[in-house]
Amino acid sequence: MKIILYVFSGTGNTYQVSKLYQKYFSQLDNNNQVDIYRISQEVVSIPNPNEYDLIGIGYPIHAFCAPEPIIRLCKELPDVNIKKTFFFKTSGEGLHINDCSSQKCLKILTKKGYDVIMERHIVMPYNMIYRHKDAMAKQMWIYAHALADLNCRELTNLYQTNQRTRVKRSILKRMLTNPIGFIERKFAHLHGTCFKVDYKKCIKCGKCIKECSQNNITIENGKYKFGHKCVLCMGCSFNCPANAIHIGIFKFWKVNGSYHLNDLLKDETIEFPFVFNHAKGVYRIYKKYYREVNKQLENANINIYDYIS
Ligand SMILES: Cc1cc2nc3c(=O)[nH]c(=O)nc-3n(C[C@H](O)[C@H](O)[C@H](O)COP(=O)(O)O)c2cc1C
Repeated sequence: MKIILYVFSGTGNTYQVSKLYQKYFSQLDNNNQVDIYRISQEVVSIPNPNEYDLIGIGYPIHAFCAPEPIIRLCKELPDVNIKKTFFFKTSGEGLHINDCSSQKCLKILTKKGYDVIMERHIVMPYNMIYRHKDAMAKQMWIYAHALADLNCRELTNLYQTNQRTRVKRSILKRMLTNPIGFIERKFAHLHGTCFKVDYKKCIKCGKCIKECSQNNITIENGKYKFGHKCVLCMGCSFNCPANAIHIGIFKFWKVNGSYHLNDLLKDETIEFPFVFNHAKGVYRIYKKYYREVNKQLENANINIYDYIS
């Protein structure tokens, strides 16, 4: 199978998950070819979906919805003659309200001939609100491996048997999520202009400019300027090596610096599974999510410990 993954990723979670899909599709069948197209500021022509058998669209959930660059991508993609397509999303929480996030994209793509056969989301460490403990981030990354592997197996089966699965989208969830997403997307443009650089900390490396997928950060007379194109992806502030970017009203929710997930996975001194042993306070909400995932893995005869090495 020839597969293309169109990916938007602010702080790298969704991109890392897309690499897992690439890995597990290739492991399933040597003949699978998986290309990844990451939406970035560089003007690169979008790969033509007509040249692929299966289309994947990956994004981080923003305010229970798809972020603006993904909605734009869906509008820009050409019409196709029935192409099997799937959504994979990353989110900070495993709440079921996140299931409805592709609603707008689904509407646009269906009209163009894309046949959406699956939609799944994978919980990854927060890039905003608070920084997870290493043990929690390790657990999320191990489960992301297992879920990506499971999803690749399911997708292959659905593709071959001409079937599809659909997530449950209650009317209430749909009515709630669409307006929230709309407001968030408009707010992002306004609020992005409030981002500021702390010049006492800034090392003038220009990483924020490189990280901004929207080409929204420029330098004028040695000062960084944030324009109106921000989509609140947090790529600039999360990846700033000097932690020098102020993010306006979200200042108490800032998370800075990579979780180094592959190092955490290899570190045997970090306890696993964390959430079942220490599900106190905020971590309690993840217990339900991991119970559900464990059931899915059990049904597919997948052992979570196979992904730790
Ligand atoms: C502006 C913003 C809004 C978010 N909204 C949600 C949300 O509604 N639900 C959720 O579970 N996670 C939410 N998150 C968390 C991200 O979806 C999550 O951290 C994701 O893995 C980030 O992926 P990325 O690194 O590819 O950008 C939000 C993050 C940001 C920055």
